[in-house]
Amino acid sequence: MKKATKVLALVLSMAMTMAALTACGNDTAAADSTDVTAVEDTQTDAAADSEAADAQTDAAADSEAADAQTDAAADSEAADTQTDAAADTGAVATVQDGVLTFGTNPEFPPFEFVAANGVIDQYDGIDMAIAKQIAEENGMTAAIESMEFDSLLIALQNGQIDAVIAGMTVTDERKEAVDFSVPYYTATQVMIVKEDSDIAKAADMADKKICVVQGYTGETCVSDMGYDYEAFKKGTEAILELVNGKCDVVVIDSATAQKYVDDNEGLKIVEDPDAFESEEYAIAVQKGNTQLLDMINSAIEAKLADGTISALSAQYLDADSEE
Ligand code: ARG
Repeated sequence: MKKATKVLALVLSMAMTMAALTACGNDTAAADSTDVTAVEDTQTDAAADSEAADAQTDAAADSEAADAQTDAAADSEAADTQTDAAADTGAVATVQDGVLTFGTNPEFPPFEFVAANGVIDQYDGIDMAIAKQIAEENGMTAAIESMEFDSLLIALQNGQIDAVIAGMTVTDERKEAVDFSVPYYTATQVMIVKEDSDIAKAADMADKKICVVQGYTGETCVSDMGYDYEAFKKGTEAILELVNGKCDVVVIDSATAQKYVDDNEGLKIVEDPDAFESEEYAIAVQKGNTQLLDMINSAIEAKLADGTISALSAQYLDADSEE
């Protein structure tokens, strides 16, 4: 069991690394959008199997709680269906009944950061507001599990959390490990430099000291370009290096870069759309968890259509982030 977990962790971290490797590839975005249907189609069978398994698990749990198998049958009747045991809770099966547990890494303003008054406990940001709304609109409460960015997909795979919401870019390789919702935000990698820097395009980084954050798509964008770099655990650590003159450029996602530039004197953003493609953020669920994915997709689609997500983006991009 332990061995299996280790192997899984290794496969996942390889998947994440490979994902990042292709993030700057020119065909990534196109491949992503055309792939979606094919990937979903091939998953239908597995999804059906896993739903059936979930239903059995729920029924078993119910029957334990009621100390009798006959009570599980009564529950089913009450829910008006024998096949959909998840209907017992009126919602999808989750790690904890009535709670939708999201994993995140709260080091990524304006999407997730720690604040005095967060929307979910101490966690604030665009993603946190979206997570809370998705849970509450579906009769659940939202809970956050905070962890390293690199651990998120592994925790999801291990069933520790129900979903990942972390400004996570959809990549083909990550799609091999988990299922992604419809995208809710479009971003791109940018370069943060000192105001007087002569870096004007990605190629100018060639002889510079580059800082990135470990496991982010920005890391392997830079690695893919063949440049040496130093990887930090947090964006704020990379920015501190830049501010202190110990590195020349930080490569990171656009909205987060904007927050760092707003919060630190003497920095500016340099964009290079030819070198850095657009990336799409989405929520990840366990492979085959179509029930939860459908719920999340409906919520996101509604929030994109009625302007909720663009309003949240505007609100959090303008607000001061406390990290
Ligand atoms: N979009 C980038 C990626 O998917 C960075 C995300 C970092 N998110 C976070 N919550 N720390 O790799």
